[in-house]
Amino acid sequence: MAVREWVVEPYESGRHLTDAFSCGSDALDAYIRKYASQDARKRVANVFVACELGGTEVVGYYTVSATSFSKEGLPATRETKQLPRYPVPASIMGRLAVHRLVQGQRLGEYLLVDCAKRVIAASRQVAVYALVVDAKDESAKTFYRKYGFLEFVDQPMRLFIPIRTLENALGRSA
Ligand SMILES: CC(C)(COP(=O)(O)OP(=O)(O)OC[C@H]1O[C@@H](n2cnc3c(N)ncnc32)[C@H](O)[C@@H]1OP(=O)(O)O)[C@@H](O)C(=O)NCCC(=O)NCCS
Repeated sequence: MAVREWVVEPYESGRHLTDAFSCGSDALDAYIRKYASQDARKRVANVFVACELGGTEVVGYYTVSATSFSKEGLPATRETKQLPRYPVPASIMGRLAVHRLVQGQRLGEYLLVDCAKRVIAASRQVAVYALVVDAKDESAKTFYRKYGFLEFVDQPMRLFIPIRTLENALGRSA
């Protein structure tokens, strides 16, 4: 099978084609088709889409925004105990979806790594302790756990990974 080449770039409505996007979740399909451009315009979420090299048909996407959380929601470890009592800064990948036709070809992983690299780069300017994700179901949770995400103790569908862990996994050049 030919190796596919993906390009990940900021979503531009009018250029990127989303009408045929179908990932198995109606809510995630509706989001990219109808609501993504509004969120991007309002600056409440940045939306990044994957297309095949040279194409404009969207085959995957994620959103990323700023957030914060209380350290009380994290598992108590030596590191998390040392976090401040005030809100801990974080980035959240609110949505992640891959078109059914290309699921299982590592695009989900590619998008997750792309998001992690952008958050690492941003964290050099504005401090970010962790990348947070919201899993829509147990299967999505299993996907994120594979990459080292840990559950919040007070929100079982919310997971996080410290930026330092991502930097160590992806290399300082990420
Ligand atoms: C979950 C999703 C993003 C994964 O994308 P994908 O491109 O199909 O996954 P990849 O090919 O990158 O898989 C990478 C690894 O994760 C595993 N994996 C993929 N989907 C998984 C799932 N739903 N549950 C558990 N593991 C999963 C793969 O088996 C692979 O494991 P391996 O390293 O042992 O081979 C995609 O299936 C999707 O869009 N699903 C519907 C929406 C959704 O659930 N979004 C999740 C965020 S809430």
